[in-house]
Formats: sequence, C-alpha cells, structure tokens
Amino acid sequence: MKYFYFSISTICIGAALWLSGCSTERNPMSPSTFSQSTQDKIPAASRSDAALAADKHFWDVFLNAKYEEIQPVLEQMTGAYLRDPTDSVTASHIGWLHIWRISERERMAKVMPSITDDAVLARKYFQEASSINPSDARLLGFLAATTLNEGAIHHNEPEISDGNALMHKAIVAWPEFNLFTAGYMVSTKPADTAEFKQGLEWQWENLDICVGEKISRTDPNYSSSVTHITTVGPKRACWNSTIAPHNFEGFFLNMGDMLVKSGDWKVAQKIYALAKSSPDYSNWKFAPLLDERIRNAESNITPFVSNKGIMINSKVSCMACHQS
Ligand code: HEC
Repeated sequence: MKYFYFSISTICIGAALWLSGCSTERNPMSPSTFSQSTQDKIPAASRSDAALAADKHFWDVFLNAKYEEIQPVLEQMTGAYLRDPTDSVTASHIGWLHIWRISERERMAKVMPSITDDAVLARKYFQEASSINPSDARLLGFLAATTLNEGAIHHNEPEISDGNALMHKAIVAWPEFNLFTAGYMVSTKPADTAEFKQGLEWQWENLDICVGEKISRTDPNYSSSVTHITTVGPKRACWNSTIAPHNFEGFFLNMGDMLVKSGDWKVAQKIYALAKSSPDYSNWKFAPLLDERIRNAESNITPFVSNKGIMINSKVSCMACHQS
C-alpha cells in the first residue's frame, strides 16, 4: 500500500490538490484516509467548546513562549480535533504547534532524531486545514513550507517539487504574507544558489508590495512605512498585530541575516536598523539581539554561511515575531 500512497501523494498533494481532476485519478485500492485528504472537507458550522478552550490555552502558551508546554496543548488540541476533524482552525493550530516545536528545537537540551516526525505531522495537519478552508492562503503557505520540509528530510524530490508549486500558488494568493514565508524557508540554502538569491529577492519584493513603491536595494528607506499601518485586509501581514505582536521587527531580523549570509553586511546593517522604526520596538524582547547583529554584521558572515545562528535555526525562529 505504501506504493499507492506515494503515487497518489505525488500526483495530488501538490499540483492537483485544488484541481478537481485529482480525485478521479485515485487508485480504488487506496485507503480511504488518503482519498479524504485530497478533497475539500466540509467545514464545521460552528466551533466546539473543546476547540475554543484548546485555543485559549494555545494562545497563552504561544504568545508567551512557553515552549515546554507544547505537548499538553497539543494533547488538548488534538483531542478537540478528533471530536471535530472539520474545524480548520483546530487543525491548523496542531500544524503550527508541530512546526513550532521543530523550528525552535534549539531550546531543547538534546535534540532527538524523531523530532523530524513533527515535520510529517505539521504537513499532515496543514493539508487537512487547507482542505477544509482553501480560502486562507496562510494555511496554503504553511502547507507549502511543511511539504518542502518533509520532502527535504526524506529526500523525496517529487514532494519537493510539489512544495515549490504550492508555494508559488501561495505567493500569488497572499504575497504580503507568503513572500516572507517562501524566502524564510530557503534562508538555509547555500548563499550562492539561485534558490537563496530568489528568497532574498522575495524579501525585497515583500517590502515593495507592503508600501506600494520600490525600495532601494542599496540604501533602503522605510520611514514612510508607518503611514501604511493597518490591522485589516491582506496588508495587515506587513505590520504588527495581536497574533504577531512583533512581525515587523522579526521580518527585518531575518532579512538582515540573509543579507549578512550573502556577504552584503553593510546593507544588512541598514535593514536590521529598520526594525527600530516599529511603534512596538521598545517592548520587543529581542532588541539586544538585534543590536548584537548590527555590531557583529561583518564577523557573522562566516557562521551564517554555514547557517550557524541564523534566525530560522535559532531559539526565536517563531518567537522573534510572535512573543508578546
Ligand atoms: C516574520 C514574522 C513571523 C515569523 C518568523 C513567524 N510568523 Fe507566524 N505569523 C506572522 C504573521 C504576520 C501572521 C498573520 C497574522 C494575521 O493573520 O493577521 C502569522 C500568523 C501565525 C499564526 C496565526 C494562526 C491564526 O489562527 O490566526 C500562527 C499560529 C503562527 N503564525 C505560528 C508561527 C510559527 C509556529 C512560526 C515559526 C515556525 C511562525 N509563526 C513564524 C508572522 C510571523
């Protein structure tokens, strides 16, 4: 049956997940769970009390960086999901908990090989979540990211191609959110590769699209940006919110790291410094980290080239934006 799983997933997970033709290609011998994951599920009409209680717990743990409490929230959230597997928010929060755990594994005293199972589960739950709610392009972006991650771990080239195809769809659907996601995902690729360069270019494009003008690649000035701040619509992904209280600062931390890694440490210093124009900068916990990055920009090139200490590989790969 494993064979059918792979043949189906490579056809359906990526290119055809949102194409109706996929279901007709399904092998009649495939287990029903697989066919379910290739069709849009009917969303729940309302959310259960169990799901709402799990969410309350989730937000407390997530926004307060209580990493060591991931497992209890995961139990509560998964319990709510099993009672109602048509709740896309619950499914997505399970996906986010798994990806948080693997992303910030630097926080663990010892990282065990089976941490990679979190990547498999994250992909599975984002697949469910975006199947229930295909209109939320954040879910599509994280499905793409987790598909790429799982494909890379298992050296599954067809899955990586599927992940790339999904990511391109996600960028088109919500560029303000997914240009960052797409570029962040490739920040660990070698700096001289086309993939890394594209990822860095996506960060610049993300800035351009957020303010509706082309930002200088050598002398970036983003001071006019504060006049564009909003908490609604697709452009909200450019600024801080209750969900991502320091999105703006975290964005520039990663972008600076990518520029340092590319060798462009002087432009990196300017990009890092843009984080300081955030109205919420004074209560960002990682301001000292940013100052350290600005000071050591040149000497960080060598470690960053081998991905040592860059934001995505650090204890704050999610918390830089999300810790309140
Ligand atoms: C550059 C900043 C940044 C980083 C890094 C980041 N996020 Fe986010 N995240 C955002 C933004 C922006 C949103 C969208 C907020 C909105 O919808 O208004 C978001 C949305 C979310 C949500 C919201 C779900 C909901 O129900 O609305 C969760 C959960 C989440 N991110 C988890 C994570 C995890 C886990 C990581 C690390 C793997 C991560 N994020 C990394 C900026 C970031």
